Amino acid sequence: MTPNDPVPTQSGQRPVVLLAGATGYVGGRLIPLLEKSGAVLRCLARTPDKLRPRVAPSTEVVAGDVLDPASLGLAMQGVTTAYYLVHLMSGSKDFEKDDRQAAMNFAEAARKAAVQRIIYLGGLGDDQDPDLSPHLRSRQEVGKILRDSGVETIEFRASLVIGSGSLSFDLVKSLTDRLPVMLCPKWLSTPTQPIAVDDVLAYLLAAKDLPPGESRVFEIGCRDVTTYGNMIRECARQQGLRRWLISVPVLTPYLSSLWLALVTPASFEVGRHLIEGLKNPTVVRDKAALDVFSIRPMGIREAVAKALSLPEPDKVQTP
Ligand SMILES: NC(=O)c1ccc[n+]([C@@H]2O[C@H](COP(=O)([O-])OP(=O)(O)OC[C@H]3O[C@@H](n4cnc5c(N)ncnc54)[C@H](OP(=O)(O)O)[C@@H]3O)[C@@H](O)[C@H]2O)c1
Repeated sequence: MTPNDPVPTQSGQRPVVLLAGATGYVGGRLIPLLEKSGAVLRCLARTPDKLRPRVAPSTEVVAGDVLDPASLGLAMQGVTTAYYLVHLMSGSKDFEKDDRQAAMNFAEAARKAAVQRIIYLGGLGDDQDPDLSPHLRSRQEVGKILRDSGVETIEFRASLVIGSGSLSFDLVKSLTDRLPVMLCPKWLSTPTQPIAVDDVLAYLLAAKDLPPGESRVFEIGCRDVTTYGNMIRECARQQGLRRWLISVPVLTPYLSSLWLALVTPASFEVGRHLIEGLKNPTVVRDKAALDVFSIRPMGIREAVAKALSLPEPDKVQTP
């Protein structure tokens, strides 16, 4: 489908849900849940042909790029709820600028199309912290841009998503699998509250059915607060591996990312942005999600066990 083609629609009376980021880790896993939810699902993809074999025949796949406003107007036609599960960290020379522009384009298209709700998954972190990493600051800026459009926006803020194929979890797992002895930079002891991918998906799905209201930000995390070092220890423990973590006084984010590039599958660029964020605590401070949703996130042990029981990251379904 080209931007000039009419958007296929077989919605009738059923609500139309747009999913941007359908080829990504989280978006790809949300597809089957949305397909079962009774809504008409429309996926936005830069390369529709890659996505089509992976969705149900009833799911619409439309060509679109969040940096190309014209392509978004067509995709938003008739949409009631629009998911924004996009980031531009890979392949962008200036991801903060591109993510800002992309969010502005998406928000404006949603506003013009009278979309009723945007649902966005961003990052945890203290927005008042002047030392917040560019990646986390940018994730929160995207949420604000979406809210400022006037379209009701439900923003979830999560730390690392635990699941096979999640880039940040794969970093942790690769470190565990490949390095019997690890020099530990300071960031391995930063407090964090990661979350299992199944719990993230449950929140994203439930947000679609909230009664109409004000824009909201929900901080979400698993039951336990931990550290990246302890996540490595837990991955090792569950795989029966013996690992030694030795503290070193200085290992800058730059050196850490060089080191990561040697031992993990993540691209140097994306790994560097993620590592910069590891110095910032990512812990749930506002527990409102537990009041508003009936979801009770699992603990770290169960989340890691589930992630480790899945196929190797390069064999999971998301391209
Ligand atoms: N994974 C985690 O641990 C984690 C943790 C906290 C929050 N989050 C948030 O969850 C959301 C999804 O993350 P993810 O891990 O699923 O990311 P991901 O696997 O890297 O997927 C990113 C998605 O963005 C799409 N995209 C990139 N540039 C685009 C453009 N110009 N136009 C349209 N689509 C574009 C990609 O499509 P292509 O296939 O065309 O590249 C892909 O579908 C992000 O907002 C992220 O910040 C993730």
